[in-house]
Amino acid sequence: MSSEMISSSAVTVDAPVRESGEIVFERVSKSFATNTYPAVDQVSVKITACDLVVLLGPSGCGKTTLLKMVNRLYEPDSGKIWMGGKEIHTLPVNELRRQIGYVIQQVGLFPHMTIQKNISVVPHLLGWQEKRINDRLEMLMELIGLPVSYLPRYPRQLSGGEQQRVGLARALAADPEILLMDEPFAAVDAINRERLQSELIDLHSKLNKTILFVTHDVEEAFRLANKIIVMRAGKLVQYGTPLELVTQPENEFIEDLVGSSNILRKLSLVNVNSILKARKNQSIYSGGSQPVEKPNTVLRPEDDLRSVVSLLLCSGKDSLPVKDSVGHLLGTVGYADLREMLISNLPSE
Ligand SMILES: Nc1ncnc2c1ncn2[C@@H]1O[C@H](COP(=O)(O)OP(=O)(O)O)[C@@H](O)[C@H]1O
Ligand SMILES: [Mg+2]
Repeated sequence: MSSEMISSSAVTVDAPVRESGEIVFERVSKSFATNTYPAVDQVSVKITACDLVVLLGPSGCGKTTLLKMVNRLYEPDSGKIWMGGKEIHTLPVNELRRQIGYVIQQVGLFPHMTIQKNISVVPHLLGWQEKRINDRLEMLMELIGLPVSYLPRYPRQLSGGEQQRVGLARALAADPEILLMDEPFAAVDAINRERLQSELIDLHSKLNKTILFVTHDVEEAFRLANKIIVMRAGKLVQYGTPLELVTQPENEFIEDLVGSSNILRKLSLVNVNSILKARKNQSIYSGGSQPVEKPNTVLRPEDDLRSVVSLLLCSGKDSLPVKDSVGHLLGTVGYADLREMLISNLPSE
């Protein structure tokens, strides 16, 4: 499945980067009469098009409220939200929502409609031709890894994880620029949750869509995110890559979140890809390990650094090669990198 196929119905199909997926929050606030403090308090943040950004924070800190202001299910009391350079109130609400897919925990599939009808509900509303809808259905089923033989089934005939996949396909049906996902995997069992997380990472790399994903689960956030927005009591506490949050926590709240005193916990939150990227950008960190000869063990970009430690120990090497799923060498990661990452936020003498 190629990204060109997926974006075939998008307006900006020729653009190398779909900047229309950029989201900017400018001092956005929202209060509810029932609360003494604002649910969202002066949040300003810029989300780059095509990033997978996770909104992380404890229950009640305002994640859902912030998300719902993007597709105007809630209206801010003050501040502005821009999407692809346009203030969202300059668009008719239907047009705005057409550019935004929305996935929630309670999936919300229509129980009396088949999977086929559920997924194609928005394309039907948009008046797509039958052939275009059928092509899209086939493509989406392949994308979410369900057989087309499921199309005539009803939601109750699918497992929770399968229903969540269908919810995702429905959100993607009209090829939106942006996906808003509010704790979509929270009700799924642990094994299926991990599978869905991997699939989402994979899907994100294929689709080039901006994804704003809400969770209160720290591991899930670090696993999925290019960047994480940490919120607390309505306020944005820190915005950064998983590596930045672990190596440069802004305050004690973030330190507690990433378990700064626990080395193995910190390592478990950062993956190999973050190290390769950081080295490339030379932003936080410029280290690197020498390649090893004829290695047997291979690292994957998505491996967390805690498992890298055990792989290094078992292999007896100082560093291991990193390869992608088709076997291309992406670089090497070893003890030197782990050491450098762990000491990078210690005060210099
Ligand atoms: N529709 C609403 N009416 C009244 N209060 C609300 C409403 N939605 C959210 N809140 C309140 O706003 C705060 C933030 O809620 P929410 O954004 O749902 O948090 P989160 O998604 O981080 O768990 C909470 O105190 C919650 O009770
Ligand atoms: Mg919520």
